[in-house]
Amino acid sequence: MIATTVHQELVELTGGRVRFDEPMRLHTSFHIGGPAEAWVEPQGLEELRALLAVAASAEMPVTPIGAGANLLVRDGGIPGLVVSLNTPAFRRLLVDGETLTAGAGVGLDRVVAAAREAGLGGCEFLAGIPGKVGGAVRMNAGTRDGQGGFRAMSDVVARVTVVRRDGTVAATPAAEIGFEYRRAALNGDLVVEAVLQLAPRPPEEIGQRVTALMAYKRATQDLTAPSAGCIFKNPGGGRPAAGRLIDQAGLKGMRVGDAIISPRHANFIVNLGEATAGDVLALISAVQYKVMQEHGVFLELEVQVMPQ
Ligand code: EPU
Repeated sequence: MIATTVHQELVELTGGRVRFDEPMRLHTSFHIGGPAEAWVEPQGLEELRALLAVAASAEMPVTPIGAGANLLVRDGGIPGLVVSLNTPAFRRLLVDGETLTAGAGVGLDRVVAAAREAGLGGCEFLAGIPGKVGGAVRMNAGTRDGQGGFRAMSDVVARVTVVRRDGTVAATPAAEIGFEYRRAALNGDLVVEAVLQLAPRPPEEIGQRVTALMAYKRATQDLTAPSAGCIFKNPGGGRPAAGRLIDQAGLKGMRVGDAIISPRHANFIVNLGEATAGDVLALISAVQYKVMQEHGVFLELEVQVMPQ
């Protein structure tokens, strides 16, 4: 529970824009999730830093949220402050030479479009990922490159600007971000901006790559119903993809409440309407159990569960 004084401080600091008990299902692509105790969309760096100061002195947790596209928020909601940088101050985009600088709130499709317009290649893999720059750095968003490999943010990020929990702003070079498969070791720092290092490529060629990627996704994935994209990481090490393992275990169409393993792509769980996080988590456990039984592989979650 937020103390009355802190409640008042947040109202004053945001000019009344803070929202208490904001349903997270309104902010996740899954359309699932209990309430954020306090939801704020800071209008600039100074407001963000002031909010962090209030949270620190009240010992309130702070959770940054991007597009909510890779997220499963528990039914009990998220305690403390949930921060969305989806405001104009964090949506700046600038191309300079072979670098592209984008705020945390910039959508990934806009990054791809701007790079293409500038004749810069290297970030085509971001096409169709329904995320934003901040979340993409945090999750080291990536995909198959269509040539037998993978391509992820760690391949293109040169540096990021972060705000630390104590309010200090720092430029962090890529080598210090601690990128791993679908993860960056940011130690609670909030990403406010990222600089991508790209390379000249004819816009037509970029267009062709994007079209091919999108066509593949449309042909194979379940993009019509609310979901969080792929639920499990691919196991790697030469083992089959998670989607294939789940499919081969005969689990397509398995259902708990309104959560179902997509009959189209087995690594997608879709929300048929009223699914709860509890339904999804029960389905996840059932899949992990069955795949372990059938294939001896433990599938790790790719989707981020909040709170952990
Ligand atoms: N497969 C099946 N049955 C299924 C689904 C897939 O047999 O129901 C097989 C496919 O035939 C293929 C293999 O599994 O041989 C891999 O499937 P796919 O090519 O669809 O790729 P993926 O590994 O499942 C990855 C990313 C996706 C990304 C696509 C783009 C991961 C965990 N997933 O999917 O990312 O969009 O490549 O090609 O790396 C996400 O991160 O949320 C996401 C959806």
